[in-house]
Amino acid sequence: MVFDTDSVVRTHFATQSISGGLHVAIIMDGNGRWAEARGLPRSAGHVAGAETVERIVAAAAALPIERLTLFALSADNWNRPAGEIDAILELMRVWLTSKTEECVANHVRLSVIGRRDRLPSPLVAAIEHAECATADQSKLHVRLAVDYSARDAIVRAARRFNVQAALDGARDGFERTLAVTCHANDLPRDVDLLVRTGGEQRLSDFLLWECAYAELFFSPRSWPDFTAADLEAALVEFRGRNRRFGGLSA
Ligand code: FPP
Repeated sequence: MVFDTDSVVRTHFATQSISGGLHVAIIMDGNGRWAEARGLPRSAGHVAGAETVERIVAAAAALPIERLTLFALSADNWNRPAGEIDAILELMRVWLTSKTEECVANHVRLSVIGRRDRLPSPLVAAIEHAECATADQSKLHVRLAVDYSARDAIVRAARRFNVQAALDGARDGFERTLAVTCHANDLPRDVDLLVRTGGEQRLSDFLLWECAYAELFFSPRSWPDFTAADLEAALVEFRGRNRRFGGLSA
């Protein structure tokens, strides 16, 4: 990973007074269609997608992005053929294992949100190792959402919250409970910009709580073709949006 982006757009950001980095979330869609269009097995699309993850993490580290949450596997993806899911899970294991040291060197923190009880144990071990080894890094926080469903997390948090509140006689913050249910070690943070590649325009049960006021950006490009310049273009469009959060323009 080369943590630099040589672009006019970066200069554009550098000249603005940006206080606090953004939370950008990405639905990495279009791997399968990218492969099929080339007469390749769908798994080849996921391999190419993993290479894009590397490029985009490097690009994000050079942009005013503090938190990057990538939708790597949804809970509904279990409905796909086992071979495809196994290939994605193994790709993640290899990616996490091979990138952990590089992330430490580049001050990138890695973590994974979602359920862990249905993941293969070697992947869980790789996740725990990556999280532990990068825990002190603070330049960029990259979160992979794996076996993740926002609705499932919210429902489980609601159940747990009620029981906990009854037991404690004290009201814990719901967001804290939500974090616990999806193995996040940090409180949920609002998504500023949600990007979806692959031409579809929907949320697919991703970060529903955190996206309450997210700006949405849909790219026609398949994830394997998505570049640092595309991410920068999304940020430029984001900067031009008028975010009112239900209020009135200043
Ligand atoms: C959606 O494309 C993508 C996925 C379900 C898997 C995403 C996985 C990766 C990007 C690679 C592994 C991740 C890491 C972090 C190394 P799709 O298969 O639904 O595409 P389609 O809509 O064209 O069928």
